[in-house]
Amino acid sequence: MSEIPTRTRIVIIGGGPAGSLLAHLLHVRGIESALLELRSREHVLERVRAGVIEHESAEILRRTGLGKRMDEEGFVHEGVNLAHSGEMLRIDFQRLTGKHVTIYGQTELQKDLFDVVDADGVPLIDEAEGVRVDGIEDHSPAVGFTRHGREHTITCDFVIGCDGAHGVTREFIPAGARRTYERQYPFCWVGLLSETPPIDDELIYASHERGFALCSMRNEHRSRYYVQGPADTTVEEWPDDRFWSELTARLPEAVADGLVTGPSIEKIVTPLRSWVSEPLRHGRLFLAGDAAHVVPPTGAKGLNLAISDVVYLVDALAGNYDRGSTAGLDEYSERAMARVWKAVRFSWWMTTMLHRFPGMSDDFERRLQKAELDYLFGSENAQRAMAENYVGLPH
Ligand code: APR
Ligand code: PHB
Repeated sequence: MSEIPTRTRIVIIGGGPAGSLLAHLLHVRGIESALLELRSREHVLERVRAGVIEHESAEILRRTGLGKRMDEEGFVHEGVNLAHSGEMLRIDFQRLTGKHVTIYGQTELQKDLFDVVDADGVPLIDEAEGVRVDGIEDHSPAVGFTRHGREHTITCDFVIGCDGAHGVTREFIPAGARRTYERQYPFCWVGLLSETPPIDDELIYASHERGFALCSMRNEHRSRYYVQGPADTTVEEWPDDRFWSELTARLPEAVADGLVTGPSIEKIVTPLRSWVSEPLRHGRLFLAGDAAHVVPPTGAKGLNLAISDVVYLVDALAGNYDRGSTAGLDEYSERAMARVWKAVRFSWWMTTMLHRFPGMSDDFERRLQKAELDYLFGSENAQRAMAENYVGLPH
């Protein structure tokens, strides 16, 4: 690790996709920063996460020198499949929107980001514990932390909280100056990774009486599958056999016939929630990515929202340094939030349409859910609306 500075322009808290992309894009614009990460580098690189990159997100990564491995090893998907009542519907992104998504694991992207941040010479200070922020309402905030038992302080112009859903940075905004919005969903996803060829070339999102299922992938030899489980379930309750038989039962028969099963190499339980903390700014403190908003994984929007926040924030900071204009900083929260809420809506819509809600029998909501799916399966306009959101709304 390079030396820990005592002063820089921007201190970024959190080295996930939001924080490390921010550090790189600032470097591209000639703005110096330092990146503080709670965990070790190795830990951050080992996390298994989703990897659907929107059309415009991928363009941004390419334009800023991060496209090489993504284009070599990632997969362009020109559509996605929905399964319901034994039928499959392909949403043809390319035909409906002229755009596509790229499948490239977040784990891989994180590696590319750390490599580029190192090449840029941005100090990436891992194992930085007990981060605290002072003076965000003054001219020169200070960020203190402990590393391997030693205390450090970095003074700066701006502090950016990119420390994810469990981060602490937003807590430095006075409680009276922020508001949170939340929806918990009464179920979770059980996810399994296996060294098996994917069931299909594209993703399959399935709605079934027994619950939701998703077939995804990492590459030609590695598959990622999810099934909806009860809210309080644990990994121990899902031995491989149970997982595979539940997945098989939730897919149309003709599709399930092509499933190749194998031993799991990783299994997780993920709760589903929609959560937003507003605004994204207080004084000289700004938030970006999961630190300010979490969406259920159904629409694959988390990573893409982190990217769009960062793009807006870099524009705003560059406007401040290059032209002495604070207009961009003043507008950042509103600009980013307008896009965030549309993704919150889309992720909520996908989640609500495709999952089995406990207690929902043949009642009103169940009928509505079926009507929603029938409408989508039968209307090209509805499919275009879904495609437009899935490939990503314009920045
Ligand atoms: N101090 C420093 N770093 C912290 C602290 C802290 N107190 N708390 C958390 N962190 C670090 C985490 O260890 C993690 O590396 O902040 C980082 C946050 O990264 P992410 O959780 O990946 O969030 P973000 O960068 O906003 O990326 C959003 O990644 O996890 C997915 O679903 C998420 O796809 C979305 C995208
Ligand atoms: C994944 O591949 O892990 C994945 C894909 C799409 C989603 C969620 C997760 O909507």
